[in-house]
Amino acid sequence: MRKPFIAGNWKMNTDSQSSTALASGLAENLKSVTTVDVAVCPPFVYLQSVAKALGDSGIAIGAQDVYFEGNGAFTGEISCEMLKDVCCTYVLCGHSERRHVIGECDELINTKLKAALAAGIKPILCVGELLEEREAEKTDEVVTDQTKKCLAGVSAEEMANVTIAYEPVWAIGTGKTATAGQAQEVHAMIRKLLAEIYDATVAENTRIQYGGSAKPGNTAELMANPDVDGLLVGGAGLKVDDFSAMINTVA
Ligand code: 13P
Repeated sequence: MRKPFIAGNWKMNTDSQSSTALASGLAENLKSVTTVDVAVCPPFVYLQSVAKALGDSGIAIGAQDVYFEGNGAFTGEISCEMLKDVCCTYVLCGHSERRHVIGECDELINTKLKAALAAGIKPILCVGELLEEREAEKTDEVVTDQTKKCLAGVSAEEMANVTIAYEPVWAIGTGKTATAGQAQEVHAMIRKLLAEIYDATVAENTRIQYGGSAKPGNTAELMANPDVDGLLVGGAGLKVDDFSAMINTVA
């Protein structure tokens, strides 16, 4: 049985006050939730204050990115050791904004993901196709290629600590959610791929989140799919009431 996993990706939003207020509000609302794993991924600079505000609520904290090298002369980057030092359990790897805005490639994402695993941080690997790729019926090809390249060299044992997030790029921040059927189709394809790369156990146990305009109104429908194990939430994750409502729907 895969435990549902809902994470909020705050992206480059909030400030010192609003990040703490958001975390405190979620901690208050969600402290009794035990049937869903919940995490929030604030900007690096607020990780510590958010972790403090989350207290013992059971809400985990994740970073939005990491650099693969150890500490040293890498100006502007953040290491796995630093993330562990501020209590990060998770790290997003290969979010579409890092792929398509910042220019990260699968090979770099793979290196980051493996560094996180080696350090004991759980990666959430994001994959997903652009609108033109979907329209050209290349969704399966693109998602397969990203998944294979980003998981290269990751063992079946290590997969126990990996979450995959399917985020169709055309659905991110656009209000255009993939239909439950579109999400299920790609999630089932990814699970089948995991069985091919690894084995049936890895395929069965790996959690696959959906991301892209997920909100309170579509949570139940998305989560009703057999292969949708959670959500990676952007905009709706910035509102205490919306994010809490989504988790309560699943719980
Ligand atoms: P939205 O929920 O704002 O579409 O963002 C999704 C996302 O990119 C989460 O990582």
